[in-house]
Amino acid sequence: MDVSRFSNRYRVRRLGENDIEKIYALCVGNELYYKFCPPFVTRQSIAEDMKALPPKKQAADKYYLGFFDGEELIAVMDLIMGFPDEKTAFIGFFMTDASVQNAGIGSRIISGLCSALRDMGVAHIRLGWVKSNPQAEHFWRKNGFRMTGATSNTDRYTVVVAQRDL
Ligand SMILES: CC(C)(COP(=O)(O)OP(=O)(O)OC[C@H]1O[C@@H](n2cnc3c(N)ncnc32)[C@H](O)[C@@H]1OP(=O)(O)O)[C@@H](O)C(=O)NCCC(=O)NCCS
Repeated sequence: MDVSRFSNRYRVRRLGENDIEKIYALCVGNELYYKFCPPFVTRQSIAEDMKALPPKKQAADKYYLGFFDGEELIAVMDLIMGFPDEKTAFIGFFMTDASVQNAGIGSRIISGLCSALRDMGVAHIRLGWVKSNPQAEHFWRKNGFRMTGATSNTDRYTVVVAQRDL
């Protein structure tokens, strides 16, 4: 899959171990997120997330992506193709750099992603936000995601499942 299609404004590429320092710097600026979704980020947790897969998925289905403005990493996204079913893509994580937030960049990235995935034949995008995280809920609702009614519980928080049809 040609991930450069995901944005006509930002350079998009798969991230690897050499990018962990940059990803860590982006993540540590987002304290609110980790308040709702603990534990707080570490370089080790990033390395694990880069490899983590949902049930029955292979490494080839996973795109742990960076969006770059010039050389600067401005957003990170964990995208799983074909999960939980063939016609659905799943966003496991999406975060923008705190220094560029509230300027429409996150929405622009999601809008570009949605049109590229639609062109590839994907019918739905699914994701979850931690219940009561006002920033995440506001952002995903504003970007057309609707709660499916499903939730899942971890021992520390509840995840609300939401979906956008493309
Ligand atoms: C959610 C996130 C990706 C949005 O990125 P962004 O580049 O700021 O996106 P936009 O500028 O397009 O939209 C931000 C919206 O969130 C709103 N917002 C920001 N902080 C908020 C808060 N604490 N409570 C409620 N809404 C908030 C902004 O007002 C804006 O909405 P508006 O245009 O209606 O005013 C970014 O805030 C982030 O990375 N947060 C931490 C990680 C996270 O929560 N990711 C999503 C869950 S996986």
